[in-house]
Amino acid sequence: MLTLIWAEDALGGIGSQGGLPWGRPIPADMRWFRRWTLGKTVAMGRRTWESLPVRPLADRRNLVLSRSLAEAPGAELVRKLQAVLACAESEEVFVIGGASLFAACKPHASRLLRTRIEAEFAADLWFPFAPEQEGYACVARETALPGEDSPWPLVFEVWERRG
Ligand SMILES: NC(=O)c1ccc[n+]([C@@H]2O[C@H](COP(=O)([O-])OP(=O)(O)OC[C@H]3O[C@@H](n4cnc5c(N)ncnc54)[C@H](OP(=O)(O)O)[C@@H]3O)[C@@H](O)[C@H]2O)c1
Repeated sequence: MLTLIWAEDALGGIGSQGGLPWGRPIPADMRWFRRWTLGKTVAMGRRTWESLPVRPLADRRNLVLSRSLAEAPGAELVRKLQAVLACAESEEVFVIGGASLFAACKPHASRLLRTRIEAEFAADLWFPFAPEQEGYACVARETALPGEDSPWPLVFEVWERRG
């Protein structure tokens, strides 16, 4: 099973200059991310791998897609998306970005985990599709008010492919 997990701002922005539009990970969102992915397999594109402040992501099997890297210490280098899809046949694989991987995985994902940050930031990269236009339905939604763990309101959503 393939699951996509990401955070976007109110305009759908997910990246800026190789990093996050909001500058650094938001603790409340990191908790949500860890809750889903700890102990699981995560797959990411080479640029997302290079953007991680600490890599590999601890306590997870890290798959990194790249045709150019010679090595990715602590992770498994994968040359083709097909290898990620093959892995997802026997376990849940969480695709954690970036935009190029989200776009490539659109036809294959069963579940989407979207964090919406209720604020607008300057971005140069956006999530590549609208879940409601691609046959997904939102099956759970939780709102977190601003506080110690996030300066902005957050909405955590679970979407599942219909049918
Ligand atoms: N907001 C969020 O939740 C979130 C999550 C993740 C990332 N991001 C942001 O997104 C940005 C990075 O995303 P991006 O779309 O630019 O890059 P990316 O998807 O992370 O990485 C792209 C690279 O992955 C490799 N790749 C992708 N598809 C492949 C395939 N089918 N086969 C082999 N290799 C493949 C290629 O690496 P080679 O060039 O080495 O071949 C490609 O250049 C950063 O700004 C990051 O901070 C945001």
